[in-house]
Amino acid sequence: MKDLLTLKDLTSAEILAIIDQAICLKRDYTPYQDALKGRSVVTLFEKPSLRTRVSFDIGIHKLGGHAVYLDQQNGALGQRESVKDFALNLSRWCDAIVARVFDHQTLVALRQHATVPIVNSLCDLYHPCQALADFMTLREHCGELDKVTLGYVGDGNNVTHSLMFAAAKLGAKIIVVCPPGHFPDGKMVLEAQSIAAQTGGQVTLSSELSALEGCDALYADTWISMGDDTPLASIKAKFQPYQINSALMASSGARYVLHCQPAHREVEITSEVMDGPGSLILDQAENRMHAQNAVLLSLLAK
Ligand code: CP
Ligand code: NVA
Repeated sequence: MKDLLTLKDLTSAEILAIIDQAICLKRDYTPYQDALKGRSVVTLFEKPSLRTRVSFDIGIHKLGGHAVYLDQQNGALGQRESVKDFALNLSRWCDAIVARVFDHQTLVALRQHATVPIVNSLCDLYHPCQALADFMTLREHCGELDKVTLGYVGDGNNVTHSLMFAAAKLGAKIIVVCPPGHFPDGKMVLEAQSIAAQTGGQVTLSSELSALEGCDALYADTWISMGDDTPLASIKAKFQPYQINSALMASSGARYVLHCQPAHREVEITSEVMDGPGSLILDQAENRMHAQNAVLLSLLAK
């Protein structure tokens, strides 16, 4: 593994190894406290962040490395100077670049020109670090991932794509339930389904909430992602039946609920469920750090 742009590029074994390593780190960082000693990682953000920014910064510190945060002061990459020059300069100082960008092609350009690994910390198409943390969380609470059924409910987006690829690679089942017209990208669905056909996983789509019956966990994300200026009022009525609330938890039979956050309480998820006994939402947030550290170790540790 040289970079992490999308989980599609990783083998099932690589994804499982990252999850195993993350669980091991979570138990005890002591053997790894100098693993990134003398190494520096640039974390750059074209979009806002709480979890990603803090979990990379503190996580890199736990491995003995140094994180350099670049905020949105430079605006979208490629405006003040080309993405190529950005990548060439940063590669002279740092050992890896973690980037949150508007356009996936910016990551592709960074990878093309940088001489250090690139980690996607969210783009318009994917959020691989999130899906790694999410399946690590499911592994902790539900056991073997090839027996897990996850129900994603809401807008088909970057998080959905990464969850579909993670599920497909891991031989898990994912049922994606979206309002008509808001499904994930059709090409990605077909790709994920063809991977799943080889692993014993399953990727299915529906607009019917009854498709969620039998899920181990339900998953919510915002109905409007960063960079999308659709007013909530214009989609609220269409999305309202897809809110994760105690009635949907009961009708699906799901024991657990996940949300990548930031969450909009009483919009895509109710506080009752978010703060309830089946919520794994803060475990997911914590696990971002361990999963990302496992990725950095596999990219950088000698
Ligand atoms: N889930 C997630 O990526 O959160 P942030 O946008 O706060 O980083
Ligand atoms: N789909 C959301 C995820 C936020 C972590 C977004 O892209 O804004």
